[in-house]
Amino acid sequence: MDFELNEEQLMVRDTIRKFAETELEPKAAELDKTREFPWDTVRKLGELGFLGAPVPEEYGGGGMDSISYLIIGMEIARCDASHATIIGAHCSLAVLSILQYGTEEQKHKYLPKMCSGEWLGAFSLTEPNAGSDASNLETVAVKDGEYYVINGHKQWCTNGAEASVIVLFANTNPEAGLRGITPFIIEKDMEGFSVGNIEDTMGIRGSHQTELNFENCRVHESQILGGEGNIGKGFKIAMIILDNGRIGMAGASIGIAQAALEAAVKYANQREQFGQKIARFQAIQWMIADMATELEAAKQLAYYAAWLKGAGKKVTAEAAMAKMFASEVAGRVTDLALQIHGGYGYSREYPLERFVRDARIKRIYEGTNEIQRLVISRDILRRYS
Ligand code: CAA
Repeated sequence: MDFELNEEQLMVRDTIRKFAETELEPKAAELDKTREFPWDTVRKLGELGFLGAPVPEEYGGGGMDSISYLIIGMEIARCDASHATIIGAHCSLAVLSILQYGTEEQKHKYLPKMCSGEWLGAFSLTEPNAGSDASNLETVAVKDGEYYVINGHKQWCTNGAEASVIVLFANTNPEAGLRGITPFIIEKDMEGFSVGNIEDTMGIRGSHQTELNFENCRVHESQILGGEGNIGKGFKIAMIILDNGRIGMAGASIGIAQAALEAAVKYANQREQFGQKIARFQAIQWMIADMATELEAAKQLAYYAAWLKGAGKKVTAEAAMAKMFASEVAGRVTDLALQIHGGYGYSREYPLERFVRDARIKRIYEGTNEIQRLVISRDILRRYS
C-alpha cells in the first residue's frame, strides 16, 4: 500500500495551495460578511483548470485523478469553505452528472464552458417536502409533443442564482414514484424558470443556496440528461452522483478542520498564561492530540473513498462513512480550536467562529449524517448477511 502522493498529485496540491493561500484566504472574512458572489476567484479557478479537474481533456477538463480532485477540495476549504461549496456543487454534482450521464452532444455542448468557468453549474434535487426523503418529488415534467412542461419549486440549490446550467430532477410519471424521476439539463434563460430567495445561512455565506421556481417551463426532450433512455432513472442517477459529492464533502470538512487545527497550534505557541506558552499545558496538548488524530483518521477515510472511486469500484458506503465521520470531526476540531483561543475564538476578529459556522452545515447537506448512517448500515447489513 502506497501512502505517498505521486508527482502529479504533489504538483496539484502545491498549485492549489498557493492559489488558495494568496487569493482565497485573504478574502474569506469579507466574503462571509458581504455575501457578494466571488466571481473573480471562481473564474480564476476555471482558468487554472480547477473547475473541471476530473473531466477528461477532450471535454476541456484537467484530466486529473480522483485523489487530486479530493486534494483540490481540501486545499480550497482550508482557505475558504464558501469557495469549496461553490466548486463542489459545480463540479462534483453538476459537471460530473453531465460527464457520467450526458449524451456526447450534451458533454461537448456543456462541459468545455463549465470547465473553463464561463458557465457555472448547479444540481437541483431538494424540494420543500423532499429533503432526506429525496424521491418524494412534487416537481413534475409533463410531456407535450417534443417538449416537457415543468412545474414545481426547488430549494437549497447551491449556485442556483449564479448557475447557467442546472441539472434538475423532476417527476415525469408521479404514479411510478422514484421510478418516475427523470434528470433534465436546464439553462438559466429558459422561459418559465426563475430564481427565488437566497437563504440567509449561518455559514458558508459566500456561497448561495436558493429557491428555484418552474412555472410552465417548456424544455425540449433533447434536454433530458443522457436522452430518453434515462426517463425514470433519475433517482438512481442522483444517488450515484451524490456518492461523488459526499467524498467532496468529506474533503471540505477536512479542509476546514485542518485550518482550525493550524490556527490552534499557532495560537497555543504564542499565547502566554501563568508565565508560559499555553502549548506547554497538558490540557491544551491533549486537545491538540485528539484534534490531530481524528483529522488524520478522517483523511484516511476520504482518501480511501476517493481511491475506490478512481478505481471504478462502488463507493456508496465508503463515501457516506467519509462524509459522516469527517463532518463530525470538523465539528469537534473547530469547537476545540475555538476553545483553545478562549474569548478571542468567540470574537469575529479571529476566523474560529467562522470555521465553526462553516463546519456545521457539513453534517446536514448532501444528506444529513442520519441519512449517511442509514446508507452505511443498509450496505453493511447486506455485505455481512
Ligand atoms: N447508488 C446506486 N443506486 C442507489 C443508490 C446509490 N448510492 N442509492 C439508492 N439506490 C437505488 C437503490 O438500489 C434502489 O434501486 P432498486 O429499487 O432498483 O433496488 C433505489 O435507488 C431506491 O433506493 P432506496 O430504496 O434506498 O430509496 P429510499 O427512498 O429508501 O432512500 C435515501 C434513499 C438514501 C434515504 C436517499 O433518499 C437519500 O440519499 N436521501 C438524502 C438526499 C440528499 O443527500 N440530498 C441532498 C441533495 S444535494 C442538493 O440538493 C444540492 C445542493 O446544492 C447541496
